[in-house]
Amino acid sequence: MADENGTRNADGTPATAERPNAHPARAADPSGGGAADASGGGEPVPGGGNAVPGADGQATPGAGGKSGAGGGDVVPSEGGEATSGGGGAAGAGGGQGAEPDGFFGRLDPDMCVVTAVAGGERAGCLVGFASQVSIRPPRFAVWLSKANHTYRVARAARCLTVHLLTRDQRDLARLFGGETGDEIDKFAGLDWREGHAGAIVLDGAAAWFVGTVVHRVDGGDHVGHVLEPVQWGEGPDGPLLRLSDAVTIEAGHPVD
Ligand SMILES: Cc1cc2nc3c(=O)[nH]c(=O)nc-3n(C[C@H](O)[C@H](O)[C@H](O)COP(=O)(O)O)c2cc1C
Repeated sequence: MADENGTRNADGTPATAERPNAHPARAADPSGGGAADASGGGEPVPGGGNAVPGADGQATPGAGGKSGAGGGDVVPSEGGEATSGGGGAAGAGGGQGAEPDGFFGRLDPDMCVVTAVAGGERAGCLVGFASQVSIRPPRFAVWLSKANHTYRVARAARCLTVHLLTRDQRDLARLFGGETGDEIDKFAGLDWREGHAGAIVLDGAAAWFVGTVVHRVDGGDHVGHVLEPVQWGEGPDGPLLRLSDAVTIEAGHPVD
């Protein structure tokens, strides 16, 4: 699935542009924010507004009014197409391809493993499409491909678990991103434990949370699952595994 540059989009499909390490969320919040409150795992106290991952107001792009800096146009271009010379910021530099690869191709998100349990089935896959989406209440969304076994389980799940990986957990990324639960049981040889409401929590993740699904949003070939954290914990320190570290993994269930 890799293109001639070996680069991919976050869901494992090829990207055509170079991808420098310039993920905007990391630039906005290098600390990861709020992690201290999540240490050791635990359930939140109702009304305890601070005990949430990332709830320091830094991680949400645009929350501080920075998203308009240097631009000012809310609509990318007249008619919504990124054509050259079409006026507005999107026209500068002239995007003429079918997709804005110069934008998508520069992203380098932290990778997650998302696990789901429902109807007696367990599932999990590697996810690059993920982001904090609210500060108060604290919410995080993961986008699951409709092609994936994990999506079919997750659509009936009350909650999902999201795990961040350290860079040395590439084998785990390969298992969850390069294999499909339609063919193998990814959990058979792994250490994991039950979390809130029977959720699967993988041992050794850099950080994780179990979140209740509060919204599902159809984004196209992926469905967004908006999660409200109810339980969380942390594991080893170290740099996180990012898309650029996982770029050679062949998606077990490609979208195309
Ligand atoms: C680098 C990379 C990023 C990925 N990002 C996503 C993603 O954001 N959402 C998703 O649903 N699948 C994503 N995938 C694809 C799934 O992880 C992959 O197809 C997996 O094998 C699906 O397993 P399943 O069928 O057991 O759910 C990604 C794969 C790779 C290699």
